[in-house]
Amino acid sequence: MKVDVIIKNTTQLLTLQGPPHPRSGKEMDEPGIIKNGAVAIKGEKILAVGTTEEIKANYISDKIIDASNKVVMPGFVDPHTHPVFVHTRENEFEMRIKGKSYVEISQSGGGIRSSIKAVREASEDELYILSEKRIKKMISNGTTTLEAKSGYGLSTESEIKMLKVIKRLNENLPIDIIPTFMGAHEFPIEYKDNHEEYIRILKEEMMPEVRKQSLAEYIDIFTEKHVYNIQQSRDILNHAKKLGFKLRMHADEIEPIGGAELAAELGAISADHLGAASDAGIKALAEAGVIATLLPGTIFSLGMKSYARARDMIDAGVAVTLATDYNPGSCNCDSMQFIITLACLQMKMTVAEAITASTINAAYSLEMGDRIGSLEVGKQADILIMDMPSYQFLPYHFGSNNVETVIKNGKVIWGN
Ligand code: NIG
Ligand code: FE
Repeated sequence: MKVDVIIKNTTQLLTLQGPPHPRSGKEMDEPGIIKNGAVAIKGEKILAVGTTEEIKANYISDKIIDASNKVVMPGFVDPHTHPVFVHTRENEFEMRIKGKSYVEISQSGGGIRSSIKAVREASEDELYILSEKRIKKMISNGTTTLEAKSGYGLSTESEIKMLKVIKRLNENLPIDIIPTFMGAHEFPIEYKDNHEEYIRILKEEMMPEVRKQSLAEYIDIFTEKHVYNIQQSRDILNHAKKLGFKLRMHADEIEPIGGAELAAELGAISADHLGAASDAGIKALAEAGVIATLLPGTIFSLGMKSYARARDMIDAGVAVTLATDYNPGSCNCDSMQFIITLACLQMKMTVAEAITASTINAAYSLEMGDRIGSLEVGKQADILIMDMPSYQFLPYHFGSNNVETVIKNGKVIWGN
């Protein structure tokens, strides 16, 4: 049978084949390797996966990619990013080197609030151009699907503007970009002494408008001691549920205030960060089936030591994913490859677990596990050809791009 593309002779084909649910426990450590593997692509989809011999016996194509001495794997899915903003904040990076903490910097005029004014003043086109450039860089690092949050506008008008930018990015760039509304990223400065009023605006104006314009199905909130406390978070998220939003949370990043427990109580799809999550929080996530999205790049860039307890989470049966948290403040990292290195070195995840967390589990956290995240028949042909002799090389060779070719929906979108 004739197909559009065949990728053959790959040293290791990482299929990530497995049960059709977020992988937990030992399932996370099974990358589904086919030695001397091959993939047949028809249109946007994977038609067949097998050994090179099997594929050659059944399929022919005018376009054959020889992946000898290469690893072929699913495209990275980055399920937590903040790529729409105006200026970068490397000044804060240097302040942290000199000993200031993230919370101290945000309380003295830096932090999320310092990104708000410029986003409010920027036109949709300006924001689009800046964000497009950043996302192209992520694509060159192997990301084929990403989640992108609003949250640097913090007014109805500017949050809608950010979500419209994300919508356009999704329409124009060759990858899938999933929007999340994050009006509860901070309290804007004009409501710093009147949190109740901003929460009212969030609930009564912003959220209904986002739903009305169908700009996001997910909502996220920064639940932390210095931002939204547990009661406020519960109130906002319960209201969001009534409006039809599905929940994600920045939970227990810095202090164990019960964010993980709240994510479990409310049935969030994902609880993110979790650097300070308690034993009870981890147990609650496992019992409620909430996915844990870990962001080791943020802990690294903040110069902190409290990496999330990935091993305890995996042992407790929590499905773990990884993401960059790409943003102008706490983590300006656009490479899932570097995140995998950190996950292995700092959180002691095995290489296979870290890859599972960056592909199929991340796909499930965006409710796309039936379409992307693994190389299985019928799924979107979102594929990376990696210039490496084995999959363990990925975190070992860090600070450099191991991606040679990025394929999205069956088309080469970056590289050879
Ligand atoms: O995920 N934690 C909250 N939001 C971002 C930081 C955003 C910023 O500092 O601009 C994060 O780390
Ligand atoms: Fe974040």
